Amino acid sequence: MAKYIGILTAGGDSPGLNAAIRGVGKAAQNAYGMSIIGFRDGFRGLMENRTVRLDSGALSGILTVGGTILGTSRDKPHKMPIGDKLLDMTDVMVDTYHKHHLDALVCLGGGGTQKNAFRLAQKGLNIITLPKTIDNDVALTDVTFGFDTALTIATEAIDRLHSTAHSHHRIIVVEVMGHNTGWLALGAGIAGGADVILIPEIPYDVQRVAESIMDRSRAGKRFSIVAVSEGAMSKELAQSYHAVQEEIAQAESGKNARAAKARLAELEAERLQSTHTLTAQLETLTRLESRVTILGHVQRGGTPSPADRLLATRLGTACARFIHEEVFGVMVAARGEGAVPVPLAEVVGKRKTVPPDHPWIESARALGVSLGD
Ligand code: F6P
Repeated sequence: MAKYIGILTAGGDSPGLNAAIRGVGKAAQNAYGMSIIGFRDGFRGLMENRTVRLDSGALSGILTVGGTILGTSRDKPHKMPIGDKLLDMTDVMVDTYHKHHLDALVCLGGGGTQKNAFRLAQKGLNIITLPKTIDNDVALTDVTFGFDTALTIATEAIDRLHSTAHSHHRIIVVEVMGHNTGWLALGAGIAGGADVILIPEIPYDVQRVAESIMDRSRAGKRFSIVAVSEGAMSKELAQSYHAVQEEIAQAESGKNARAAKARLAELEAERLQSTHTLTAQLETLTRLESRVTILGHVQRGGTPSPADRLLATRLGTACARFIHEEVFGVMVAARGEGAVPVPLAEVVGKRKTVPPDHPWIESARALGVSLGD
């Protein structure tokens, strides 16, 4: 019997989502005779049973469109904001799935979505996921779609910042997204020829960063580009963070835990200001005029790159094949030129960080780029 499948996009949007929806939908319809419906705004739309018809007309003309035609949200099934409460609405979502007589539900998202989708799989639903995020931090896939487009945008921004930094003999500190991993800042930093690259995996020493800029200055290079990941921290801040996190893990509950959590919130606020603090410190230490550019959500906007369209299409069409073969409870991961199903149980709770000996790190060091350590 022909299968009936649902699809949703959750978490932060990312270029390539529509290419993936199209890939899943067209392959499901054309190659396997399935029907498909979309749920609006991630898990919230599944809970509220808000659907979008995804017939072949709806799947046409979306390959190059940024964002997601389904809409998205960061809502979690087990902690859904309803009024002023956070409620576990997982069972309501399970009911929606059965109401539509679905044979499978496809969830497109990053690390958080893999976790949320796994919860639904544990409730007995046939779940299959695709890895999307500009952060490239999902475990057990070579790469996530959205990353290449964001890398291209961030690299182009660094290219443009070069000429203005050069003209004014300034330091320009450019903050790149990436959450708690440095893939985007490191990739764009190397591709854009940044002089300093700071990532969360390598806490930095601001004195060392300043020294590397002064060395450039003494060599006649009167400007510097510092690419900093939004999650990067100074050594001092990283130490305080780890200490407080350990305190929280040990205290579990009671007064000590509350105090440690309040301290963590303070550190979080400090971390949000890190790029501005770093820029002011560099200006003081080097006596070179300094400016900050925060790239922000521009990195997630607009049309996906050709590489992301190819990746999203490859994973999407493979997803339809796995549904046909009834392979469920898996994420469709990119592996070499192909796509492999990886059990969700192995993906959740892990984050792919930049290893200290990654070839990009080795290249950056070989070029003489300061990593702040
Ligand atoms: O996960 C993608 C991402 O863009 C991160 O790089 C960033 O930290 C976060 O989402 C921003 O989230 P929001 O769009 O909710 O502000």
